[in-house]
Amino acid sequence: MKVLLTGCAGFIGSHTCEKLLSKGFSVIGIDNFSTFYDRSIKEKNIDVFRNHPNFSFKELDIRDFNSLKENLLEEVDILVHLAAKAGVRPSILNPSDYIDVNIKGTQNLLQWMLDHNCKKLFFASSSSVYGNNKNGEAVKEGDFDLQPISPYAFTKHSGELMNYTYHHLYDFDIINARFFTVYGPRQRPDLAIHKFVDLISRNQPIHMYGDGNSARDYTFIEDTVNGIVGGVDYLLNNENVIETLNLGNQTPVPLITLIKTIYAQLGKKENIIQEGLQDGDVNLTFANIEKAQKLLGYNPAVKLEDGIARFVEWYRQKDNN
Ligand SMILES: NC(=O)c1ccc[n+]([C@@H]2O[C@H](COP(=O)([O-])OP(=O)(O)OC[C@H]3O[C@@H](n4cnc5c(N)ncnc54)[C@H](O)[C@@H]3O)[C@@H](O)[C@H]2O)c1
Repeated sequence: MKVLLTGCAGFIGSHTCEKLLSKGFSVIGIDNFSTFYDRSIKEKNIDVFRNHPNFSFKELDIRDFNSLKENLLEEVDILVHLAAKAGVRPSILNPSDYIDVNIKGTQNLLQWMLDHNCKKLFFASSSSVYGNNKNGEAVKEGDFDLQPISPYAFTKHSGELMNYTYHHLYDFDIINARFFTVYGPRQRPDLAIHKFVDLISRNQPIHMYGDGNSARDYTFIEDTVNGIVGGVDYLLNNENVIETLNLGNQTPVPLITLIKTIYAQLGKKENIIQEGLQDGDVNLTFANIEKAQKLLGYNPAVKLEDGIARFVEWYRQKDNN
């Protein structure tokens, strides 16, 4: 089976690519090495599988439909669309970039699928589409009206809506997977765990936004990737699919607990500067994962302490490889 994977040089994309190759899939990976963070980090991510016989890479920008049309001529069985401009806070400063990549880029790919008779799509959405959690309970996919509070979040929700339209009009089979704060080796450098480990390791103070009670349903990369590959298998073996699924860990962890866990694992003395809450940040993410468990056999297994230990180990080794 052949997969077209967008964003293959990124954090989640590179792990997904490795896993798909290990399971015998052929993968065509595309990425434009967006400047959101350093190209050399992404080059290193794809070095892990660059020479795999079932992998080929094309440096392409999903915003450019003509270039997709001219350079992606192969037939594929499924598109796994992970490329995006990520990050909540920067999306407030520059919403139009997010609209270009996450909405226009996604629509280009849907159109490319139509032209190439590819009718299966796994789409990376985000827990941020839910907005603030009002009752402190785990959210189910269809629980309530979505109230995204950042441009990033509304672009992800727009992607889900466009996907529904292509399902309705052209019988595409689609999973919209809402990821919940994914972490682990190769995590993006702009994300909290990576930033904290980096600063604390260098004996620098860290900035904590809010009083430490905001909480995230941190999900270890291996668990998220198992959900993605489970979703790919499900799509390839089923017809008439349009599903939205939470791929979280159903265990929200307060920010202050996360910070203390990292300090303890690094064996450093706490040095925390408290700041006000930031616009766009939600109070709590908390996934109800029953639907993904039932449909995909999704079963996240990595506890935060273990996942942080594995991140720290990777962080310590990364510059020696
Ligand atoms: N990391 C998380 O916690 C998290 C949470 C929710 C959703 N997501 C979603 O998961 C996906 C992967 O996130 P990630 O954390 O691996 O981010 P990432 O930035 O590491 O990966 C995204 C990749 O997409 C590529 N890309 C960006 N714009 C592109 C374009 N115009 N054309 C082609 N490639 C482009 C980037 O170069 C990058 O390699 C994204 O869709 C993101 O919105 C991530």
